[in-house]
Amino acid sequence: MEKSQAYRRHAELCSLLHHHNYLYYALDRPEISDSEYDRLFRELQEIEKAFPELATADSPSRRVGAPPLEKFEPVRHTLPMLSLENSFDESEMREFDARIRRFLASDAEIEYACEMKMDGVAVELVYRDGFLETGSTRGDGITGEKITENLKTIPSIPLKLRSSCPPLLEVRGEVYMNLKDFQALNHEREEEGQPAFANPRNATAGSLRQLDSSVTARRPLRIFSYGTGRVDGDTPPTHSALLERLRQWGLRVDLDGLRVVRGIEGVLAYYGELMERRDELPYEIDGVVVKVNDLALQRELGEKTRTPRWAIACKFPPRQAVTRVEDVQLQVGRTGAVTPVALLQPVEVSGVTVSRASLHNWDEIDRLGVMRGDLVVVERAGDVIPDVVRVLKEERTGKEIPIVLPEKCPECGSPVQKLEGEVVPRCQGLSCPAQIKESIKHFVSRRGMDIEGLGDRYIDQMLKLGLVDSVADLYTLTREELFRFERMGEKLAQNLLNAIDRSRRQPLSRFLYALGIRHVGEHLAKLLARQFGSLDELASASGDDLLKIHEIGPQVADSVTAFFRSPENREVLRKLREAGVVPEAEERQAGGPLSGKTFVFTGALSRFSRKDAQEMVEKLGARASGSVSRKTDFVVAGEDAGSKLLRAGELGVTVLSEEEFLQMMEKGGIS
Ligand code: IVH
Repeated sequence: MEKSQAYRRHAELCSLLHHHNYLYYALDRPEISDSEYDRLFRELQEIEKAFPELATADSPSRRVGAPPLEKFEPVRHTLPMLSLENSFDESEMREFDARIRRFLASDAEIEYACEMKMDGVAVELVYRDGFLETGSTRGDGITGEKITENLKTIPSIPLKLRSSCPPLLEVRGEVYMNLKDFQALNHEREEEGQPAFANPRNATAGSLRQLDSSVTARRPLRIFSYGTGRVDGDTPPTHSALLERLRQWGLRVDLDGLRVVRGIEGVLAYYGELMERRDELPYEIDGVVVKVNDLALQRELGEKTRTPRWAIACKFPPRQAVTRVEDVQLQVGRTGAVTPVALLQPVEVSGVTVSRASLHNWDEIDRLGVMRGDLVVVERAGDVIPDVVRVLKEERTGKEIPIVLPEKCPECGSPVQKLEGEVVPRCQGLSCPAQIKESIKHFVSRRGMDIEGLGDRYIDQMLKLGLVDSVADLYTLTREELFRFERMGEKLAQNLLNAIDRSRRQPLSRFLYALGIRHVGEHLAKLLARQFGSLDELASASGDDLLKIHEIGPQVADSVTAFFRSPENREVLRKLREAGVVPEAEERQAGGPLSGKTFVFTGALSRFSRKDAQEMVEKLGARASGSVSRKTDFVVAGEDAGSKLLRAGELGVTVLSEEEFLQMMEKGGIS
């Protein structure tokens, strides 16, 4: 390509990619398919390979481009990053409101903007002329650490703002991790022999404090922007309008969690509502942040040394309880990692009965000093397995028994060893049934080959009956063999065989993930599938071929090449191929019967999960989006649907019940 032509196309691609990033991350309303996006992205990368001078700091390709740092530099915030005063009960919240009205000598009700209090890490992003210049941590509020390169790897942080933004904009927000992503990350770390993180906040903080930004790039971080520092330029009159503005400029703002209310009664009502919804949210919140909405009043109220007078954090009570550790169970994972789980005397923690808690790893046991028989404080977040946070050592009777790392695998008796450079002890047995069982479970799992109905119970029986030694044997199971399982009927057996058969056609990315190659999670599996297009191509790739790919470092390259070199793995892959499992890279289906239609799912869905619903509509060529707009075609409303349903009503968007939606799917589209 000629230089001038390349430069022009490069500029065009940059603006297209920035635009589609905005639609996807800030508005949650993509307009092109993932594969179209990838095509544009690859074209950009090709041009930058030929003309490296075009790979400037704001190029959409530059999300992991920086060399590792020696240390973080300090950054002084233009305006201090304040902290929030906390309130723990209704009377303290009322006192906050009373204080504001006294200060303003006002009888009128104050308008408050209420937001979710994200439990993450506060950061500041400085945009000059629309470009992300510096990103930093809060630090002590006056000086933070410069973590620009790390923040640039977070997809929901725009590298460039949209037009009409002010010449200088300092944005503040909270970087966080969804609970499911956190669990998956920890699971992966345990398998890989790295210490697990204690909670999503620690995982976020640890991910942001990496000197090598390619590590941060692999962590599932997100941001919600909730305010500004210095802004040179016009700002709207209220905080809620400012948030809307931030979103228009391209930042991700939690407008679903924002509620503007009148007076303290409105605040209390929203607080109660969020407390009820807390368990349904994909991330952990620890309260509601209440801010005086009128920015002129905020200025009038001003601030104390460390906290503003115009805002307060209304904290939720922690979901904790005290119970006894009755025993410790040892679990052997897919890669042989031996991890401890505390079995608890069942206890209710804010409405949920808890009988197991995660101890994460052996270092954690040392750190907590926990023993069998100890009374401990457990805490839960969302619907994930709770944590042991503290041991009540003062309650000990002397009868407690220390928890020791076993020398032999509890499942197969092979030695358990901690290899050099690893934190996690592993069973060294090559044919440990627990490892085989876990790898089969992983293979058939939802995110893997998605073989519906093949639950743990059946996998156990297959192994016991000696019907399978590896995942390849699943594909040669016969009807007669299935009938040997307990509680297996005609219909179930047929369903299972059908599900196994269907999985033969799963796309390459799922297959790669399902194989359980170390360090290859869903994201890298997709990337590898896209880059190589077929299993053979990937299997014959050299370490150097792999390292050429954006986001792939030596660790992943080594693990992928080692996987395909192993004679045992080659044998399993050969058998899989013989059984007709020949996965191909996917392109998203275009031109389905619902092509071009957009669905939004809201409320508590009882007949299917959101992910299922999304897959159903995508199969028919439609899209699922998170927010209702004029472009939405259908809103599917479950129980207690809230603001999205109202918005659908306002915009005249067709609302479907779950039943109506299922009927539509069964018919394969709109009749
Ligand atoms: S406003 C002066 N809004 O909570 C205003 N903070 O305890 C300062 N946080 O450092 C912050 N969600 O890390 C604000 N919607 C939200 C928030 C939020 C979480 C964090 C933030 C802050 C800490 C204060």
